[in-house]
Amino acid sequence: MNNRRILVTSALPYANGSIHLGHLVEYIQTDIWARFQKMCGHECIYVCADDAHGTPIMIRAQQEGISPEELIAKTKQEHEQDFADFHIAFDNFHSTHSDENKYFATSIFKALQNNGYISTNTVTDLFDPEEKVFLPDRFVRGTCPKCKAEDQYGDNCEVCGATYTPADLINPRSALSGAQPIQKENLHYFFKLSSLEDALKEWTQSGSLQPEIANKISEWFADGLQDWDISRDAPYFGFEIPDAPGKYFYVWLDAPIGYMASFKNYCDRTGVDFDSYWKPDSSAELYHFIGKDIAYFHTLFWPATLMGAGWRTPTSVFCHGFLTVNGQKMSKSRGTFIKARTYLNHLKPEYLRYYFAAKLNDGVSDIDLNLDDFQQRVNSDVVGKLVNIASRCAGFIYKKFAAELTDEFIAEGTQTFKTASEKNIEIKQLYEARKYSEAMRSIMALADLANQVIDQYKPWERIKDDANKQEVHQVCSFGLNMFRLLIGYLKPVMPELAEKSEAFLNCKISWSDLASAQALPSGHTINKFKPLITRIEKQVVDNMVEESKQQAAPKADDPIADEITFDDFAKLDLRVARIAKAEHVDGADKLLQLTLDLGEPTGGLQKNVFAGIKSAYDPKDLEGKLVVMVANLAARKMRFGLSEGMVLAASGEDSGLFVIHPDSGATPGMRVK
Ligand code: MSP
Ligand code: ZN
Repeated sequence: MNNRRILVTSALPYANGSIHLGHLVEYIQTDIWARFQKMCGHECIYVCADDAHGTPIMIRAQQEGISPEELIAKTKQEHEQDFADFHIAFDNFHSTHSDENKYFATSIFKALQNNGYISTNTVTDLFDPEEKVFLPDRFVRGTCPKCKAEDQYGDNCEVCGATYTPADLINPRSALSGAQPIQKENLHYFFKLSSLEDALKEWTQSGSLQPEIANKISEWFADGLQDWDISRDAPYFGFEIPDAPGKYFYVWLDAPIGYMASFKNYCDRTGVDFDSYWKPDSSAELYHFIGKDIAYFHTLFWPATLMGAGWRTPTSVFCHGFLTVNGQKMSKSRGTFIKARTYLNHLKPEYLRYYFAAKLNDGVSDIDLNLDDFQQRVNSDVVGKLVNIASRCAGFIYKKFAAELTDEFIAEGTQTFKTASEKNIEIKQLYEARKYSEAMRSIMALADLANQVIDQYKPWERIKDDANKQEVHQVCSFGLNMFRLLIGYLKPVMPELAEKSEAFLNCKISWSDLASAQALPSGHTINKFKPLITRIEKQVVDNMVEESKQQAAPKADDPIADEITFDDFAKLDLRVARIAKAEHVDGADKLLQLTLDLGEPTGGLQKNVFAGIKSAYDPKDLEGKLVVMVANLAARKMRFGLSEGMVLAASGEDSGLFVIHPDSGATPGMRVK
């Protein structure tokens, strides 16, 4: 098993949004695994890319008033910075909108075609009769057939969550021209998945997939494999299909090919041999880490694409579950939809890396980030148990023993150190099997053992008596050697803490050091101890949630009303008025009755207005104040009398009511325009 060559990927994040903590479950899971493999001395290459194609990207660019190319360039920069700041150490981060990907997508499609796996068929699509183009689902808008919300996308309703096809919409309209779409026959390209059914069955049942996923796939086979529609019509942001002008590869065809493209880009940069990883007889291992939502694409479509085009198939696909926060789906309004950057504005990346590691295993069940538990767990494990070992021992070694360690330990220490070193085999297996939570438990149990031995010898007491000096030297040297071992075990999870600890211990740590059961030699000197990591304060976590809530607040759930012309506006006669009288209205719980004086310019006109401002104002406080009113509004008969206009006031969803007053100097009767 030595000298393995391993290519690892995480799913390619869409280039139309920010990285959030849900995504990070996957990138952290993969990064830990890749770092672990490297630490063991294997050739392990970790690649990823942005998934830059498809309709949502196109729409997002339109909304921002930029080109798709500008959007994906901007997003790539943001994603790369977020990943780097979370210590996700990709060997390469590329884009599916790249030359390499175009090359592979095109050549794979041609190979599939030559091998007889591509067919064409006519499908009834929606067509914009004015723009003369076929419309993707998201370019059709209309009324939701279920909840009747207006102006919803053609594939799902943002109000009630229903999914449907554009044909189900009530009063569908083209988002391009506003015209009513018509149904029209259209040619589509299909991948004949069923022709590869036997080969796929063999691959999926070969035992390398997680049992839950293998079961799911059996269900899919039982339902029968449908041919896969891989073409979309212009307007589309993607690659054009060879010899099919105006037809594009569906984003999910070229997205996984992006794994190859990113790796090719890496090979061209470094001289690594591409074919030795991707040819069918390759001895290299290939693993894709993904979320359970995209298992179908990775365990059926993707291996089928590779088989059909004559490339190797993945060694395995590792699925993880979804992140919940405080036991619930991430929610913008609760402030638990937390972006990577928002987290980083408040907290260190390694807290989350450790917490996720402490929760992750090889299964597909969801994992919960409970924010209280997060704070307590990190504080108690990393600060209270692990770093505590170093902070209890370092000072004595540094001050009393000229910073020098001894490799002779107190008796219990020798045994504990041996036990802890022997654990490397188990911990290695746990990392390899992605059972990180068990690995973390194992490591923290060893930290407990180390602390127990230190507690037993109490160097802080014994140091007071010179007769015990040697013992103190031995127990503290034991402590720091234990610390080195445990930090080594945690290095894939907490690379920054490991680096700082290596600087403090004045040595590098590789997996072979951990397995050797060798203490640092007598006379090895350490550096001065500086705090390696601080505790998480509850306030800081609260601040992060608060910032996330704030981000959710300005969401455009209150869009600007339909445009009016200047003439429409000029019809309004807005005037300054003085509140001559303000009174409660018997039996009305929202209204105040106002007598408004429009002053000299109007010949001393007075108007009676019922205004819905009782919740915010005491009538006494209003009398004498100047307001702005719509003076030419047709009078309306209300239950309590005639209302002859309206007073302008600002109001939010549930954030109060604020009557608008003109600046000082204005006088009743003046026009407002
Ligand atoms: N672009 C596709 C993947 C193409 S791979 C050839 C995609 N992108 S994504 O941005 O939506 O998701 C990227 C990865 O993050 C996926 O594996 C997805 O499962 C994972 N996650 C996204 N949200 C998540 C959670 N809330 N929790 C855990 N993982 C999540 O899918
Ligand atoms: Zn709806």
